[in-house]
Amino acid sequence: MRVGVLTGGGDCPGLNAVIRAVVRKGVEVNGWEVVGFRNGWQGPVEGRSRPLGLDDVEDILTRGGTILGSSRTNPYAVEGGVDRIRAVLAEQGVDALIAIGGEDTLGVAKRLTDDGIGVVGVPKTIDNDLDATDYTFGFDTAVHIATEAIDRLHTTAESHRRALVVEVMGRHAGWIALHSGLAGGASVILVPERAFSVDKVIEWVASRFEREYAPIIVVAEGALPEGGEAVLQTGEKDAFGHVRLGGVGTWLADEIAARTGNESRAVVLGHTQRGGVPTAYDRVLATRFGLHAVDAVADGDFGVMVALRGTDIVRVRLAEATARLKTVPAERYAEAEVFFG
Ligand code: F6P
Repeated sequence: MRVGVLTGGGDCPGLNAVIRAVVRKGVEVNGWEVVGFRNGWQGPVEGRSRPLGLDDVEDILTRGGTILGSSRTNPYAVEGGVDRIRAVLAEQGVDALIAIGGEDTLGVAKRLTDDGIGVVGVPKTIDNDLDATDYTFGFDTAVHIATEAIDRLHTTAESHRRALVVEVMGRHAGWIALHSGLAGGASVILVPERAFSVDKVIEWVASRFEREYAPIIVVAEGALPEGGEAVLQTGEKDAFGHVRLGGVGTWLADEIAARTGNESRAVVLGHTQRGGVPTAYDRVLATRFGLHAVDAVADGDFGVMVALRGTDIVRVRLAEATARLKTVPAERYAEAEVFFG
């Protein structure tokens, strides 16, 4: 059997751990040939692939990014894209695909399965916004990076008695903000799921200053002020129609400075959150996902995604996995609110 593997969407730490597990189990246990497609769905659309042997996956467990490259190519937005995938798989003798990605990559995987191409999905994203799995790999690493940054920002904020607004990623889900804000002892955490009152934020910030502390405000890039619109850097959209978020941190830091009279600065963590070595948790989760994806392919169980439920890896239909985003529930946000101000 010849099996293709690809990584699509925004990269995240742990992708190489999945690739390694797929190759190790696919080749050593199942006797397969494994082929790596380049740059997400662009690889099978354009026929760009390379064989992946045991030597290729040596020493990649701890490496961030993806040795295969990634892109946000949407074959359904490319003229004849799906027919080209079908032709490339036939030409290269590839029987099935393992697609490692988030909601967009897995949405394509679902549609391809409906169109008769055998795909098994593996959930990745630092945003942790896939509903059918308790956690995606990459999230834990992103939270660690953001928490470490917040720890460092506390000391400089205190030295200058400034407010520091830390903008974190997560798109339309506030998981990174919630977890890093809680772990880092933030004075305020703002998430996309709950529009925030600027007056209330100012109140919390002022009360923190009154007690001789320098407030740290963690704001998710997708957070919105009440009655306001998303703050965007540009109106640019990707092939899946997502706008580029970012800018709310700087906007809020300016509001705080203007309305409290205290100095305020914004720190945008940006792609730092997606780089570097995965945490041990992400390495283990990514490895287990890779091993179980191989089993699903071996069973001919296509149209599924491997998922974490409790401590078990299970299979869920891709249709279910991509049906809705997993966002922060009100009761989880309420837990964090205890620490605001
Ligand atoms: O989905 C992962 C993510 O990092 C989001 O948190 C963020 O909004 C987006 O990707 C950034 O995308 P890009 O890498 O295209 O700038």
